[in-house]
Amino acid sequence: METLKVGLIGTGDIAPAYIRGCAPFNVIDIVACADLLHDKAEAFAAAHGLKALSVADLLARGDIDIVINATVPAAHAEVALQIINAGKHAYSEKPLAIDRAEAEPVMRAAVAAGLRLGCAPDALLGGGNQTARRALDAGAIGLPVAGTAFFLSRGPESWHPNPDIFYQRGGGPLLDMGPYFLTALVHLLGPVARVSASAAISFPERIAASEKHMGRALPVEVNTHVAGTLEFASGAIASLIASFDISGHHLPPLEIHGSEGSLSLQKPNMFDGEVSLLQAGSREWETLPFSHTTNIGRGAGVAVMAYAIQSGRPHRASGALAYHVLDIMCALEESAAQGRHISIQSTIERPEPLPAGLADGELDW
Ligand SMILES: NC(=O)c1ccc[n+]([C@@H]2O[C@H](COP(=O)([O-])OP(=O)(O)OC[C@H]3O[C@@H](n4cnc5c(N)ncnc54)[C@H](O)[C@@H]3O)[C@@H](O)[C@H]2O)c1
Repeated sequence: METLKVGLIGTGDIAPAYIRGCAPFNVIDIVACADLLHDKAEAFAAAHGLKALSVADLLARGDIDIVINATVPAAHAEVALQIINAGKHAYSEKPLAIDRAEAEPVMRAAVAAGLRLGCAPDALLGGGNQTARRALDAGAIGLPVAGTAFFLSRGPESWHPNPDIFYQRGGGPLLDMGPYFLTALVHLLGPVARVSASAAISFPERIAASEKHMGRALPVEVNTHVAGTLEFASGAIASLIASFDISGHHLPPLEIHGSEGSLSLQKPNMFDGEVSLLQAGSREWETLPFSHTTNIGRGAGVAVMAYAIQSGRPHRASGALAYHVLDIMCALEESAAQGRHISIQSTIERPEPLPAGLADGELDW
């Protein structure tokens, strides 16, 4: 496989994770970066041995094949479109966009140009999510009938260097953390057919506590507590709570329950969360050995996309999967606002599981 050169737009908090996570894969090489704030791109480039460019110059470089879009959610669609219009494959951070109307032109542009559109989260490629998928597909819990997904915290304003985005349109716990939980559920249970939800802004103002913003009041524009029900096309039903309003809890992050037992997963944003299995009739949970490497991180989805570009096969952390997840999240908000069930118009096939036994730094093509 040829090494494809990669550019990175958005050199904020998450950008170093891409440098670390892409490094083990010979199929990709991050060579340049850009940011609206050019000083930030220059400091990042100096720290990581890259070339700092303006966004326009990065997109004009003929030797760059793939561009990672690690900008803020409200800019994802616009930047992804710029990348595609420049003739490059785009890989966006989550969510794909902040609503369907912004996401759809991006999807259409990629198809029309014959370019790949990938999207985080790629934690579905990690040992935790792959081990659960393998157990489920092998029939370890029989027919899956139910799931639970709980992300509850008191919000990221205590630590994040740019806390405002979490409480503005495009933020909130559902759009911020929902992609991990919903991608994991869809990866295991398949597409969602219908949802219902209730949602609230529990506190109209938040107080930032990170060093740079200590004590600053942040107005809240988005629901900060969303409790929903997901009905899968398979007939399974999952309960989901995404909240920035909860100080502490004892709820498990993610569980799948079937006719013959239950699977319990750690937070699906991790690549290395342990998976445990309880078989019907037993009272003992057993920890499953990992079927896939946990020595993998954010950026694996970019590497899989680089393989797929060259082999012609579908990539796993795809724009289509991210669109289905966005569709579900938009429908949850609409259900809460309108007080009725909402049918999901998009659908998706579960991405292929990774083959077991791949060495570190090796992915499937
Ligand atoms: N921080 C985390 O822990 C984390 C974890 C997982 C995923 N993410 C995701 O990564 C993305 C970025 O988050 P972050 O925490 O790094 O945010 P951030 O605010 O720290 O960084 C975003 C960067 O993008 C730049 N930017 C914004 N609009 C731009 C544009 N139009 N063109 C070029 N640059 C632009 C900003 O100047 C900033 O440097 C978000 O989608 C977020 O959901 C973040």
